[in-house]
Amino acid sequence: MNVFVARRLPGNAVERLRAEHEVEVWPESMPPGKDALLSRAPALEGLLALLTDPVDADVIASAPALRAISNYAVGVDNVDLAAATARRIPVGNTPGVLTESTADLALALMLGIARRIAEGDAYVRRGEWRTWGPSLLLGRDLHRATVGIVGFGRIGQAVARRCEGFGCEVLHTSRGGGVELGELLERSDFVTLHAPLTDDTRGLIDAAALRRMKPTAYLINTARGPLVDTDALVAALHAGEIAGAALDVTDPEPLPDDHPLLDAPGLLVVPHIASATHATRERMADMAVDNLLAGLAGERMPNCANPEVYEG
Ligand code: DGY
Repeated sequence: MNVFVARRLPGNAVERLRAEHEVEVWPESMPPGKDALLSRAPALEGLLALLTDPVDADVIASAPALRAISNYAVGVDNVDLAAATARRIPVGNTPGVLTESTADLALALMLGIARRIAEGDAYVRRGEWRTWGPSLLLGRDLHRATVGIVGFGRIGQAVARRCEGFGCEVLHTSRGGGVELGELLERSDFVTLHAPLTDDTRGLIDAAALRRMKPTAYLINTARGPLVDTDALVAALHAGEIAGAALDVTDPEPLPDDHPLLDAPGLLVVPHIASATHATRERMADMAVDNLLAGLAGERMPNCANPEVYEG
């Protein structure tokens, strides 16, 4: 069958697809973009997409033979799930495999922003390190801090396990033992986001939410950029309403070079790398290919974001 893979993937998983199907792999490092997806859509039977690829209603409607979409991510907010489900096209994703790597990066961002790691590195490289100083680059402790986890699924729980090792008090917003978001914002020294992007969570951390945080607290986001109102975050950082933000994901993504967020004080930003370890990205490729092979064979995908397509 005719399969399009929207980027080269780490490891050998794509070879397993090639063994069974006619496969085109997009060779560039930049995403194919909607026009390239639309131009392939009429003949497309299987699509392996990345979170940078808009698999929207137009793309799905233009692909009458499409029978399986596999997303190389746990999040599927780049795919119009309703449009795929209406056509009974299963949409695969990669849950579980990136949980621990993402939790590792959340902790790295907490430590990085609170202990001013990037600032310290830049200071040394600028040649300013002349002596040890009692007040040089003072930061804040993660150990014994209160960490508020917004979204207590697999990744949120993995972050909690790590924070317990640091002697932190952990708050979370889940039903059953959780606290209200407002209370979490007011009590936490670190607020870390682990919720999926949905209509309910878009803009969850807005100006009012940021105002409820302590002026000494940090915001950490390894989930999806649009959970945070970026303009409100820029204003809060300039006004000193929070101590800083450490972001793996942004809105927009990528950030243009002249984006005002990059001029805000107390910002640490990395380019959406929470799952970027050799082992995790290779496992994600295996899972994405397993999903696509199953979908194309008319079998149930091992990990499917719209399992209702298999009902009835
Ligand atoms: C995901 O899987 O949703 C991450 O954002 C990228 O690994």
